[in-house]
Amino acid sequence: DVPTPQWRPVYHFTPPKNWTNDPNGLIYLNGVYHLYYQHNPYENKWGHMSWGHATSKDLLNWKHLPVAIPEIETKDTTTWIFSGCAVLDKNNTSGFGSKDKAPLVAIYTADQPKQQKESQFVAYSNDGGLTFTNYAGNPVVDIHKKDFRDPSVIWMEEQQQWVMTVAVPQEHRLQFYGSKDLKKWDLLSEFGDQGDTRKIWECPSLTPLYVDGDPAKKKWLIMISSGNPDAATGMQYFTGDFDGKTFKNDNPAEHQQFVDYGRTFYAAIPYNNLPDGRQTMLGWLMPFETPTYPWRGQMSIARDLLLKSTPAGVQLYQQPAAVLNASLDKLPASKKLVKQGFEIDSKETPISKGGQFNSNANWIDVTFVPGTGEDFGVKLGQDPVAKVETVVGYNTARNELYIANEKGLVMDKLTVKPAEGKIRLQVLFDKSSVEVFVNGGERVLTTLIFPGEKATGCALFAKNGKVMVEALRVWDLAR
Ligand code: FRU
Repeated sequence: DVPTPQWRPVYHFTPPKNWTNDPNGLIYLNGVYHLYYQHNPYENKWGHMSWGHATSKDLLNWKHLPVAIPEIETKDTTTWIFSGCAVLDKNNTSGFGSKDKAPLVAIYTADQPKQQKESQFVAYSNDGGLTFTNYAGNPVVDIHKKDFRDPSVIWMEEQQQWVMTVAVPQEHRLQFYGSKDLKKWDLLSEFGDQGDTRKIWECPSLTPLYVDGDPAKKKWLIMISSGNPDAATGMQYFTGDFDGKTFKNDNPAEHQQFVDYGRTFYAAIPYNNLPDGRQTMLGWLMPFETPTYPWRGQMSIARDLLLKSTPAGVQLYQQPAAVLNASLDKLPASKKLVKQGFEIDSKETPISKGGQFNSNANWIDVTFVPGTGEDFGVKLGQDPVAKVETVVGYNTARNELYIANEKGLVMDKLTVKPAEGKIRLQVLFDKSSVEVFVNGGERVLTTLIFPGEKATGCALFAKNGKVMVEALRVWDLAR
């Protein structure tokens, strides 16, 4: 157990110590973003699942709070608090609050290993989400299965009902339930056996969005986590219509669409209760081989969800949440770099300014106009002595965005064409995580890297030719 402060992200969430996996119960209340998360309060590995808790006003700085929902231990039963969601019950439909005080209601999976059972529980909070009381009538949904989990609940104003989406993982199937009071749930319909069914289905969500921001073009987005550390892609999505009862897929059943093309992005769910129809999600970055200590696991940057019409149909775009821009704008001039219209060639162009930008906590936004260079991009975590680096590159012949790790191995890649003749990369590098948004979020690739302590250089590069950099903006987020 060697401490690894060099890999502790500074602008991504990590628990102060011990294990985290999925984000849970994401909800925005009175200007505060709540993050609950799958947590082992006792060890730096998965187990004793409970809901850890943190809050933030800007989605960058987090305040750590005590465990909100601990595991339940009785004589015959251990109940682990698996993933789920939280809703604000504005009209007190559940009766868990009062007319003047809306309760916060968590809906989660109770995993009972001894009974080999998973069912859906509710718990409520009347102190703003700090502590929860489990409902005496639990479970609220039980189909007597070992695997049945990750409820995600939204309020449908038109139908005046709550809708729960929940997964039957081994059967690649989702179920939708409806309720008037969050306690009594009726099966509405099922959706499944479509898209990617190679792996189990977990952590589903169902989210309304306006295509191209146009209120006349409402669509529903289903996201599902599906995979394990060996999977090339961890999350898939469907777009379609939902009438309060059934989901109708826009695409043929065989059609597959993915949220992120790296191996680490998983279990993402959107925030509930955001203003102005905004939809923003957090995902878990699954820690594969490399151990970190005294914590393990981190969250992605908050990502805005957008649906856009494209020649290939309606597609999901993601962008670092727009609210984050306020924090970037507030940084002092010494921590910002802006350069426009310059050419790069096979001599590397270091990104630095009087020692800044060598913190491994950089946000780089660069737009390239491909020229004769056959390969170009950004190098991170460079150690000139040990000659190691991580390469975020774009290969023009293959139309491929790739990340090659310190050992030169390509760990993650995806295919994407230039948009209007340009390749824009937003590279969010934070000590051990790299999130790359391509062409304004048309594709996203996330990975984990583990640079040595002296590996803090970064640079732009082009191979075998020249490339134009239309614009470069860099923020150094180290504290
Ligand atoms: C996804 C998941 C969920 C489950 C939770 C348990 O990573 O397997 O399906 O609720 O983790 O920690």
